[in-house]
Amino acid sequence: MILSVSDILPSVEHLLTRLILHHKIKKMKKQTKVVEYNLEASVFNWEIGPGKTVEAWGFNKQLPGPVLQANVGDAVVIRVTNSLTQPTTVHWHGLCLPASMDGTDAAQKPIAPGETFEYRFEVHQAGTFWYHSHTNETFQMERGLYGALVVHEDTDPVTDRDRIFMIDDMKLDANNEFTAPGWYVPRVIETHDGRQGNTLLINGKENPTINVHAGQMERWRFINSSSARYFLLHMEGREFKIIGTDGGLLESPRPVTEVLITPGERMDVVVGPFNEGETFLIESLPYNRTTFLRPKRESFATVKVGERKKSIAFLPETLRKIEPIARQDEPVTRKIKLSVGPSFKNGMDFKINDHVHVNDKPVKVGELQVWEIDNVSLMDHPFHLHGFFFQVLDENGKEPEYRAWKDTYNIKPRTKVKIAWIPDNRPGTWMYHCHILEHHAAGMMANFDVIDGSKPYTEKPAQHVHHHHM
Ligand code: C2O
Ligand code: CU
Repeated sequence: MILSVSDILPSVEHLLTRLILHHKIKKMKKQTKVVEYNLEASVFNWEIGPGKTVEAWGFNKQLPGPVLQANVGDAVVIRVTNSLTQPTTVHWHGLCLPASMDGTDAAQKPIAPGETFEYRFEVHQAGTFWYHSHTNETFQMERGLYGALVVHEDTDPVTDRDRIFMIDDMKLDANNEFTAPGWYVPRVIETHDGRQGNTLLINGKENPTINVHAGQMERWRFINSSSARYFLLHMEGREFKIIGTDGGLLESPRPVTEVLITPGERMDVVVGPFNEGETFLIESLPYNRTTFLRPKRESFATVKVGERKKSIAFLPETLRKIEPIARQDEPVTRKIKLSVGPSFKNGMDFKINDHVHVNDKPVKVGELQVWEIDNVSLMDHPFHLHGFFFQVLDENGKEPEYRAWKDTYNIKPRTKVKIAWIPDNRPGTWMYHCHILEHHAAGMMANFDVIDGSKPYTEKPAQHVHHHHM
Protein backbone atom coordinates (compact mmCIF):
# COMPACT_ATOMS: atom_id res chain seq x y z
CA MET A 1 0.00 0.00 0.00
CA ILE A 2 1.29 3.41 -0.91
CA LEU A 3 -0.13 6.46 0.77
CA SER A 4 -0.24 9.78 -0.91
CA VAL A 5 1.06 12.86 0.84
CA SER A 6 -2.44 14.16 1.61
CA ASP A 7 -3.37 10.90 3.39
CA ILE A 8 -0.61 11.24 5.88
CA LEU A 9 0.37 14.15 8.02
CA PRO A 10 -0.79 17.54 6.93
CA SER A 11 2.69 18.54 8.05
CA VAL A 12 4.38 16.52 5.29
CA GLU A 13 2.67 18.56 2.63
CA HIS A 14 3.43 21.67 4.58
CA LEU A 15 7.06 20.65 4.85
CA LEU A 16 7.36 19.99 1.11
CA THR A 17 5.91 23.39 0.28
CA ARG A 18 8.28 24.99 2.74
CA LEU A 19 11.24 23.13 1.27
CA ILE A 20 10.36 24.29 -2.22
CA LEU A 21 9.83 27.87 -1.05
CA HIS A 22 13.12 27.76 0.80
CA HIS A 23 14.96 26.76 -2.39
CA LYS A 24 13.24 29.47 -4.39
CA ILE A 25 14.09 32.20 -1.90
CA LYS A 26 17.69 31.02 -1.74
CA LYS A 27 17.95 31.04 -5.52
CA MET A 28 16.66 34.58 -5.67
CA LYS A 29 19.04 35.80 -3.01
CA LYS A 30 22.16 34.21 -4.37
CA GLN A 31 23.60 34.60 -7.82
CA THR A 32 24.33 31.09 -8.98
CA LYS A 33 28.04 30.63 -9.38
CA VAL A 34 29.43 27.96 -11.68
CA VAL A 35 32.23 25.86 -10.18
CA GLU A 36 34.23 23.83 -12.71
CA TYR A 37 36.59 20.92 -12.26
CA ASN A 38 38.43 18.48 -14.51
CA LEU A 39 39.08 14.97 -13.27
CA GLU A 40 41.21 12.44 -15.08
CA ALA A 41 41.03 8.81 -14.05
CA SER A 42 44.35 7.07 -14.64
CA VAL A 43 46.87 4.54 -13.33
CA PHE A 44 49.95 5.93 -11.54
CA ASN A 45 52.47 5.17 -8.83
CA TRP A 46 51.45 6.46 -5.42
CA GLU A 47 53.63 6.54 -2.33
CA ILE A 48 51.54 5.50 0.67
CA GLY A 49 54.54 5.79 3.00
CA PRO A 50 58.33 6.16 2.87
CA GLY A 51 59.62 3.60 0.37
CA LYS A 52 56.19 2.03 -0.05
CA THR A 53 54.65 2.59 -3.46
CA VAL A 54 51.53 1.05 -4.98
CA GLU A 55 50.16 1.10 -8.49
CA ALA A 56 47.07 3.18 -7.81
CA TRP A 57 44.01 3.90 -9.91
CA GLY A 58 42.86 7.39 -9.08
CA PHE A 59 41.90 10.90 -10.13
CA ASN A 60 44.44 13.55 -11.21
CA LYS A 61 47.33 11.34 -10.08
CA GLN A 62 46.36 11.86 -6.44
CA LEU A 63 44.99 9.50 -3.85
CA PRO A 64 42.36 10.51 -2.80
CA GLY A 65 41.41 12.62 -5.82
CA PRO A 66 41.28 16.41 -5.41
CA VAL A 67 38.87 17.90 -2.87
CA LEU A 68 36.00 19.52 -4.77
CA GLN A 69 34.47 22.52 -2.99
CA ALA A 70 31.28 24.46 -3.61
CA ASN A 71 28.79 26.68 -1.79
CA VAL A 72 25.08 26.03 -1.40
CA GLY A 73 23.35 27.25 -4.56
CA ASP A 74 26.34 26.73 -6.87
CA ALA A 75 26.14 24.93 -10.18
CA VAL A 76 28.92 22.35 -10.45
CA VAL A 77 30.42 21.14 -13.72
CA ILE A 78 32.89 18.26 -13.58
CA ARG A 79 34.48 16.87 -16.73
CA VAL A 80 35.68 13.32 -16.17
CA THR A 81 38.19 11.93 -18.64
CA ASN A 82 38.81 8.22 -18.61
CA SER A 83 42.48 7.36 -19.19
CA LEU A 84 42.09 3.86 -17.76
CA THR A 85 42.04 0.63 -19.73
CA GLN A 86 38.44 -0.14 -18.72
CA PRO A 87 35.16 1.81 -18.66
CA THR A 88 34.20 3.81 -15.58
CA THR A 89 31.50 6.10 -14.16
CA VAL A 90 31.53 8.50 -11.23
CA HIS A 91 28.85 8.47 -8.52
CA TRP A 92 28.36 11.57 -6.35
CA HIS A 93 27.60 9.91 -3.06
CA GLY A 94 25.01 11.86 -1.03
CA LEU A 95 24.23 14.56 -3.56
CA CYS A 96 20.62 15.22 -4.57
CA LEU A 97 21.20 15.59 -8.29
CA PRO A 98 19.21 14.66 -11.42
CA ALA A 99 18.96 10.89 -12.06
CA SER A 100 20.96 11.19 -15.29
CA MET A 101 23.95 12.53 -13.30
CA ASP A 102 23.96 9.80 -10.65
CA GLY A 103 26.80 7.88 -12.28
CA THR A 104 25.42 4.34 -12.22
CA ASP A 105 25.31 2.14 -15.30
CA ALA A 106 21.50 2.35 -15.12
CA ALA A 107 21.72 6.13 -15.45
CA GLN A 108 24.42 6.51 -18.09
CA LYS A 109 26.56 4.70 -20.61
CA PRO A 110 29.90 4.05 -18.90
CA ILE A 111 32.70 6.38 -19.98
CA ALA A 112 34.85 4.34 -22.37
CA PRO A 113 38.67 4.57 -22.27
CA GLY A 114 39.69 7.80 -23.97
CA GLU A 115 36.28 9.44 -23.55
CA THR A 116 35.14 12.40 -21.46
CA PHE A 117 31.78 12.84 -19.76
CA GLU A 118 30.50 16.08 -18.27
CA TYR A 119 28.58 15.86 -14.99
CA ARG A 120 26.43 18.91 -14.16
CA PHE A 121 24.26 19.53 -11.14
CA GLU A 122 23.38 22.14 -8.53
CA VAL A 123 24.15 21.74 -4.86
CA HIS A 124 21.41 22.65 -2.39
CA GLN A 125 22.63 21.09 0.86
CA ALA A 126 25.76 21.81 2.85
CA GLY A 127 27.74 18.84 4.06
CA THR A 128 30.46 16.28 3.50
CA PHE A 129 29.99 14.24 0.36
CA TRP A 130 32.24 12.14 -1.81
CA TYR A 131 32.67 10.83 -5.29
CA HIS A 132 33.81 7.42 -6.39
CA SER A 133 33.86 5.05 -9.31
CA HIS A 134 30.58 3.17 -9.72
CA THR A 135 31.86 0.61 -12.22
CA ASN A 136 33.72 -2.54 -11.25
CA GLU A 137 33.97 -0.99 -7.77
CA THR A 138 35.60 -3.93 -6.00
CA PHE A 139 38.57 -3.33 -8.29
CA GLN A 140 38.47 0.40 -9.12
CA MET A 141 37.58 1.79 -5.68
CA GLU A 142 39.97 -0.56 -3.90
CA ARG A 143 42.80 0.99 -5.95
CA GLY A 144 41.85 4.58 -5.16
CA LEU A 145 39.20 5.99 -7.51
CA TYR A 146 37.55 8.27 -4.95
CA GLY A 147 37.70 11.78 -3.49
CA ALA A 148 35.80 14.25 -1.28
CA LEU A 149 33.27 16.91 -2.24
CA VAL A 150 32.44 19.52 0.39
CA VAL A 151 29.54 21.95 0.21
CA HIS A 152 29.79 24.98 2.48
CA GLU A 153 27.15 27.36 3.80
CA ASP A 154 27.34 30.70 5.66
CA THR A 155 25.55 29.17 8.64
CA ASP A 156 28.29 26.53 9.19
CA PRO A 157 29.77 26.72 12.70
CA VAL A 158 33.07 28.59 12.86
CA THR A 159 36.10 26.44 13.61
CA ASP A 160 39.83 27.17 13.51
CA ARG A 161 40.43 24.65 10.76
CA ASP A 162 38.45 22.34 8.52
CA ARG A 163 40.01 19.01 7.43
CA ILE A 164 38.91 15.94 5.57
CA PHE A 165 39.97 12.45 6.58
CA MET A 166 39.22 9.73 4.06
CA ILE A 167 39.55 6.32 5.70
CA ASP A 168 40.66 3.37 3.62
CA ASP A 169 42.64 0.16 3.73
CA MET A 170 44.43 -1.86 1.10
CA LYS A 171 45.06 -5.57 0.88
CA LEU A 172 48.58 -5.88 -0.53
CA ASP A 173 51.12 -8.65 -0.86
CA ALA A 174 54.79 -8.47 0.20
CA ASN A 175 55.62 -6.55 -3.02
CA ASN A 176 52.90 -3.97 -2.34
CA GLU A 177 50.81 -5.36 -5.13
CA PHE A 178 47.05 -5.78 -5.10
CA THR A 179 46.14 -9.44 -5.00
CA ALA A 180 43.12 -11.40 -6.08
CA PRO A 181 42.09 -14.39 -3.98
CA GLY A 182 43.44 -17.40 -5.82
CA TRP A 183 41.17 -20.28 -4.99
CA TYR A 184 37.68 -21.03 -3.74
CA VAL A 185 38.01 -20.62 0.03
CA PRO A 186 39.81 -17.23 0.13
CA ARG A 187 37.42 -16.05 -2.57
CA VAL A 188 34.39 -16.95 -0.48
CA ILE A 189 35.96 -15.31 2.58
CA GLU A 190 36.58 -12.11 0.63
CA THR A 191 32.98 -12.10 -0.64
CA HIS A 192 31.66 -12.76 2.85
CA ASP A 193 33.79 -10.29 4.83
CA GLY A 194 34.34 -7.80 2.07
CA ARG A 195 37.90 -6.97 1.09
CA GLN A 196 39.78 -5.81 4.16
CA GLY A 197 43.54 -5.29 4.23
CA ASN A 198 46.27 -4.53 6.73
CA THR A 199 47.53 -1.36 5.04
CA LEU A 200 45.57 1.37 6.82
CA LEU A 201 45.26 4.72 5.14
CA ILE A 202 44.10 8.23 5.96
CA ASN A 203 44.02 10.43 2.87
CA GLY A 204 46.10 7.89 0.97
CA LYS A 205 48.94 7.75 3.54
CA GLU A 206 49.97 5.14 6.07
CA ASN A 207 50.14 6.47 9.65
CA PRO A 208 50.51 10.18 8.82
CA THR A 209 51.29 12.77 11.50
CA ILE A 210 48.64 15.43 11.97
CA ASN A 211 49.86 18.68 13.50
CA VAL A 212 47.37 20.81 15.37
CA HIS A 213 47.70 23.93 17.53
CA ALA A 214 46.99 23.88 21.24
CA GLY A 215 43.94 25.88 22.26
CA GLN A 216 42.15 25.46 18.94
CA MET A 217 39.06 23.61 17.79
CA GLU A 218 38.99 21.94 14.40
CA ARG A 219 36.29 20.38 12.27
CA TRP A 220 37.28 16.94 11.03
CA ARG A 221 35.16 15.42 8.29
CA PHE A 222 35.55 11.64 8.30
CA ILE A 223 34.55 9.71 5.19
CA ASN A 224 34.74 5.93 5.16
CA SER A 225 35.87 5.15 1.61
CA SER A 226 37.02 1.60 2.31
CA SER A 227 35.56 -1.48 0.65
CA ALA A 228 34.33 -3.11 3.82
CA ARG A 229 36.06 -1.84 6.97
CA TYR A 230 33.96 -0.72 9.93
CA PHE A 231 35.75 2.26 11.44
CA LEU A 232 35.00 2.82 15.13
CA LEU A 233 36.64 6.20 15.67
CA HIS A 234 38.41 6.66 18.99
CA MET A 235 41.05 9.17 20.10
CA GLU A 236 42.48 7.32 23.07
CA GLY A 237 39.48 8.31 25.15
CA ARG A 238 39.48 12.03 24.37
CA GLU A 239 36.04 13.55 24.03
CA PHE A 240 34.97 15.00 20.70
CA LYS A 241 31.64 16.30 19.41
CA ILE A 242 29.65 14.92 16.49
CA ILE A 243 28.15 17.88 14.66
CA GLY A 244 27.06 16.39 11.37
CA THR A 245 26.65 13.27 9.29
CA ASP A 246 25.66 12.27 5.72
CA GLY A 247 23.06 14.98 5.13
CA GLY A 248 24.73 17.86 6.96
CA LEU A 249 24.53 19.23 10.50
CA LEU A 250 22.72 17.58 13.41
CA GLU A 251 20.38 19.64 15.59
CA SER A 252 22.99 20.01 18.33
CA PRO A 253 26.55 18.81 18.99
CA ARG A 254 26.84 15.37 20.62
CA PRO A 255 29.82 14.80 22.93
CA VAL A 256 31.19 11.23 22.64
CA THR A 257 34.46 9.31 22.93
CA GLU A 258 33.77 6.97 20.01
CA VAL A 259 31.57 6.75 16.94
CA LEU A 260 31.05 4.05 14.31
CA ILE A 261 31.54 5.06 10.67
CA THR A 262 30.56 2.32 8.24
CA PRO A 263 31.59 2.14 4.55
CA GLY A 264 30.02 5.07 2.67
CA GLU A 265 29.07 7.03 5.83
CA ARG A 266 30.34 10.41 6.94
CA MET A 267 30.77 11.88 10.41
CA ASP A 268 31.73 15.50 11.01
CA VAL A 269 33.28 16.01 14.42
CA VAL A 270 34.74 18.96 16.31
CA VAL A 271 37.92 18.19 18.24
CA GLY A 272 39.93 20.14 20.80
CA PRO A 273 41.02 22.31 22.41
CA PHE A 274 44.16 20.28 23.26
CA ASN A 275 47.20 21.10 25.40
CA GLU A 276 50.62 21.88 23.99
CA GLY A 277 52.82 18.76 23.84
CA GLU A 278 49.97 16.24 23.78
CA THR A 279 50.27 13.31 21.39
CA PHE A 280 47.59 10.75 20.65
CA LEU A 281 46.42 8.27 18.06
CA ILE A 282 43.42 8.28 15.77
CA GLU A 283 42.31 4.72 16.18
CA SER A 284 39.59 2.32 15.24
CA LEU A 285 38.33 0.09 18.06
CA PRO A 286 37.35 -3.50 17.35
CA TYR A 287 33.80 -3.85 16.03
CA ASN A 288 32.37 -7.30 15.64
CA ARG A 289 30.39 -7.55 12.41
CA THR A 290 30.63 -11.34 12.25
CA THR A 291 33.50 -11.83 9.84
CA PHE A 292 36.10 -14.57 9.41
CA LEU A 293 38.74 -11.94 10.16
CA ARG A 294 38.92 -11.13 13.87
CA PRO A 295 38.26 -7.45 14.65
CA LYS A 296 41.26 -5.61 16.09
CA ARG A 297 42.13 -2.26 17.67
CA GLU A 298 44.16 -0.41 15.03
CA SER A 299 45.72 3.01 14.65
CA PHE A 300 45.45 5.18 11.55
CA ALA A 301 47.35 8.38 12.39
CA THR A 302 49.26 10.25 15.10
CA VAL A 303 48.13 13.67 16.25
CA LYS A 304 50.79 16.05 17.62
CA VAL A 305 49.73 19.18 19.46
CA GLY A 306 52.12 22.08 18.95
CA GLU A 307 52.37 25.72 19.93
CA ARG A 308 49.28 27.42 21.36
CA LYS A 309 47.34 29.74 19.06
CA LYS A 310 44.30 31.82 19.75
CA SER A 311 40.94 30.47 18.71
CA ILE A 312 38.06 32.00 16.81
CA ALA A 313 35.97 28.83 17.03
CA PHE A 314 32.37 29.04 18.17
CA LEU A 315 30.12 26.03 18.41
CA PRO A 316 26.51 27.00 19.17
CA GLU A 317 24.23 24.68 21.20
CA THR A 318 21.68 24.68 18.37
CA LEU A 319 23.11 23.93 14.94
CA ARG A 320 19.81 23.81 13.05
CA LYS A 321 16.31 22.38 13.22
CA ILE A 322 15.47 19.05 11.54
CA GLU A 323 11.70 18.58 11.09
CA PRO A 324 10.54 14.97 11.39
CA ILE A 325 8.96 13.83 8.11
CA ALA A 326 7.00 10.91 9.60
CA ARG A 327 5.98 9.39 12.93
CA GLN A 328 7.68 6.38 14.50
CA ASP A 329 4.52 4.27 13.97
CA GLU A 330 3.98 5.44 10.38
CA PRO A 331 2.56 2.57 8.24
CA VAL A 332 5.21 0.80 6.16
CA THR A 333 4.91 1.24 2.37
CA ARG A 334 7.67 -1.17 1.32
CA LYS A 335 9.60 -4.06 2.85
CA ILE A 336 13.17 -4.86 1.91
CA LYS A 337 14.71 -8.08 3.17
CA LEU A 338 18.49 -8.44 3.30
CA SER A 339 19.76 -12.00 3.40
CA VAL A 340 22.82 -14.12 2.67
CA GLY A 341 22.70 -17.62 1.26
CA PRO A 342 24.88 -20.27 -0.35
CA SER A 343 25.25 -20.17 -4.11
CA PHE A 344 26.42 -22.99 -6.32
CA LYS A 345 28.03 -20.62 -8.81
CA ASN A 346 29.46 -17.87 -6.57
CA GLY A 347 29.89 -19.61 -3.23
CA MET A 348 27.64 -17.03 -1.61
CA ASP A 349 24.78 -14.81 -2.71
CA PHE A 350 23.89 -11.50 -1.07
CA LYS A 351 20.21 -10.90 -1.63
CA ILE A 352 17.41 -8.34 -1.64
CA ASN A 353 13.99 -9.93 -1.13
CA ASP A 354 15.50 -13.36 -1.92
CA HIS A 355 17.00 -12.34 -5.28
CA VAL A 356 20.31 -10.96 -6.51
CA HIS A 357 20.57 -7.73 -8.56
CA VAL A 358 16.93 -6.74 -8.32
CA ASN A 359 14.58 -4.31 -10.09
CA ASP A 360 12.33 -3.01 -7.33
CA LYS A 361 8.91 -1.36 -7.79
CA PRO A 362 8.78 2.33 -8.72
CA VAL A 363 7.90 5.16 -6.32
CA LYS A 364 5.88 8.25 -7.20
CA VAL A 365 7.10 11.81 -6.93
CA GLY A 366 5.79 13.43 -3.74
CA GLU A 367 4.64 10.21 -2.05
CA LEU A 368 6.05 9.61 1.40
CA GLN A 369 8.12 6.43 1.47
CA VAL A 370 8.28 4.38 4.66
CA TRP A 371 10.59 1.45 4.10
CA GLU A 372 11.26 -1.33 6.52
CA ILE A 373 14.68 -2.86 5.98
CA ASP A 374 14.82 -6.26 7.59
CA ASN A 375 18.27 -7.77 7.94
CA VAL A 376 17.67 -11.47 8.51
CA SER A 377 21.36 -12.32 7.99
CA LEU A 378 23.90 -12.73 10.77
CA MET A 379 26.16 -9.90 9.64
CA ASP A 380 25.95 -6.10 9.36
CA HIS A 381 25.11 -4.30 6.10
CA PRO A 382 25.51 -0.54 5.53
CA PHE A 383 22.39 0.33 3.52
CA HIS A 384 22.85 3.18 1.00
CA LEU A 385 20.10 5.01 -0.89
CA HIS A 386 21.23 7.02 -3.91
CA GLY A 387 20.09 10.60 -4.48
CA PHE A 388 17.78 11.13 -1.48
CA PHE A 389 18.21 11.59 2.25
CA PHE A 390 16.12 9.62 4.69
CA GLN A 391 15.31 9.78 8.39
CA VAL A 392 15.46 6.72 10.60
CA LEU A 393 12.10 6.32 12.39
CA ASP A 394 12.55 3.09 14.26
CA GLU A 395 15.14 0.39 14.95
CA ASN A 396 13.76 -2.87 16.42
CA GLY A 397 10.99 -0.92 18.14
CA LYS A 398 13.17 1.93 19.39
CA GLU A 399 13.27 5.51 18.21
CA PRO A 400 16.81 6.68 17.35
CA GLU A 401 18.58 8.79 19.98
CA TYR A 402 18.79 11.81 17.71
CA ARG A 403 17.44 13.05 14.42
CA ALA A 404 19.65 13.21 11.32
CA TRP A 405 19.50 13.15 7.53
CA LYS A 406 21.17 9.97 6.31
CA ASP A 407 22.00 8.31 3.01
CA THR A 408 23.92 5.36 4.48
CA TYR A 409 22.85 3.54 7.64
CA ASN A 410 24.18 0.40 9.24
CA ILE A 411 21.62 -2.40 9.57
CA LYS A 412 22.72 -4.73 12.33
CA PRO A 413 22.10 -8.51 12.17
CA ARG A 414 18.53 -9.60 12.92
CA THR A 415 17.40 -5.98 12.93
CA LYS A 416 14.50 -4.12 11.38
CA VAL A 417 15.06 -0.47 10.56
CA LYS A 418 12.26 1.79 9.40
CA ILE A 419 13.25 4.78 7.29
CA ALA A 420 11.24 7.60 5.71
CA TRP A 421 12.01 9.71 2.67
CA ILE A 422 10.20 11.77 0.06
CA PRO A 423 11.00 11.46 -3.65
CA ASP A 424 11.03 15.05 -4.87
CA ASN A 425 10.61 15.81 -8.55
CA ARG A 426 13.68 14.01 -9.97
CA PRO A 427 12.27 11.14 -12.01
CA GLY A 428 14.57 8.46 -13.38
CA THR A 429 16.31 5.26 -12.37
CA TRP A 430 17.91 5.19 -8.91
CA MET A 431 19.31 2.50 -6.71
CA TYR A 432 19.95 1.26 -3.20
CA HIS A 433 22.54 -1.26 -2.07
CA CYS A 434 24.83 -2.52 0.63
CA HIS A 435 27.98 -0.35 0.65
CA ILE A 436 30.26 -3.29 1.40
CA LEU A 437 31.49 -3.43 -2.19
CA GLU A 438 31.76 -7.22 -2.37
CA HIS A 439 28.18 -7.61 -1.08
CA HIS A 440 26.92 -5.12 -3.64
CA ALA A 441 28.75 -7.05 -6.38
CA ALA A 442 27.38 -10.38 -5.07
CA GLY A 443 23.81 -9.14 -5.56
CA MET A 444 22.73 -6.97 -2.62
CA MET A 445 21.49 -4.10 -4.77
CA ALA A 446 18.31 -2.91 -6.47
CA ASN A 447 17.37 -0.39 -9.11
CA PHE A 448 14.02 1.37 -8.90
CA ASP A 449 12.38 4.22 -10.75
CA VAL A 450 11.08 7.50 -9.39
CA ILE A 451 8.13 8.25 -11.61
CA ASP A 452 6.01 11.24 -12.33
CA GLY A 453 2.52 9.90 -11.48
CA SER A 454 0.89 11.84 -14.31
CA LYS A 455 2.77 9.93 -17.03
CA PRO A 456 2.32 6.29 -18.15
CA TYR A 457 4.81 3.78 -16.80
CA THR A 458 5.86 0.34 -18.06
CA GLU A 459 6.85 -2.19 -15.41
CA LYS A 460 10.32 -3.70 -15.64
CA PRO A 461 11.01 -7.38 -15.06
CA ALA A 462 11.69 -7.95 -11.36
CA GLN A 463 15.24 -9.11 -11.99
CA HIS A 464 17.85 -8.13 -14.45
CA VAL A 465 21.17 -9.56 -15.42
CA HIS A 466 24.10 -7.63 -14.08
CA HIS A 467 27.39 -7.65 -15.91
CA HIS A 468 30.73 -7.41 -14.19
CA HIS A 469 33.97 -6.44 -15.80
CA MET A 470 37.05 -8.05 -14.33
CU1 C2O B 1 28.75 5.29 -2.54
CU2 C2O B 1 26.14 3.24 -5.03
O1 C2O B 1 27.51 4.21 -3.76
CU1 CU C 1 26.45 -6.09 3.08
